[in-house]
Amino acid sequence: MSANNNRLGGGGYAPREEEPVFEKRFSPEALAELEEIASHYPERKAACLPALWIAQREYGGHLTPSAIKEVAELLDMPCVEVEGVASFYTMYNLRPRGRHHIEVCTCLTCAVCGAYDVVHALEHELGIRVGETTEDGEFTLSEVECLNYCAGAVVAQIGDRYFTHLTPKQVPDLLAMLRDTSNYTPEKLADSIVKLHIPGSSQKRGGSWRVEEVPPSQTSEVE
Ligand code: FES
Repeated sequence: MSANNNRLGGGGYAPREEEPVFEKRFSPEALAELEEIASHYPERKAACLPALWIAQREYGGHLTPSAIKEVAELLDMPCVEVEGVASFYTMYNLRPRGRHHIEVCTCLTCAVCGAYDVVHALEHELGIRVGETTEDGEFTLSEVECLNYCAGAVVAQIGDRYFTHLTPKQVPDLLAMLRDTSNYTPEKLADSIVKLHIPGSSQKRGGSWRVEEVPPSQTSEVE
């Protein structure tokens, strides 16, 4: 599947502009969250994943070089090690993303079930290609590896929601539904995941990840 060469996962490692100044942005509350989380691990570096989620929230939805450096300092880790973790996992954004990040699985099962038809319909409707963000900042489109829900092929992860059995016909409805939501931003998603890592958090949202299907189509077929 040669299209995989164009894959840009959620992290989508790509060269970034260097920031001229190292600007720390962890608030006192964010520092307290990190200390609480880190206290439950035998060594500080073990808290790298939740620390990156905190950073993703504090830095406006993506991890800048300063975010990587601040996490490295806070966890006594080399910057290159933190960047290695951040660039490995597609859930971390190394560059700005749209309010909704649509990650379509194009691995074998989903590909056989028409994942590329869904991707092409999304590209058509959004006017962008895989790896790009719409001008209004609403949507980023990515291809990703198996989302571990093959029985629901074609599957797309959008924030903390899994949409299953997707077809090209459903794409206009899916996008309309996403545009109508006001409570989804990369920062809010990061915050909800940070809370999952805080033992006893009153805002803990264990099991918030949802599997859904797009409601029956009310719009015309994608041309
Ligand atoms: S192949 Fe798409 S979820 Fe597994």
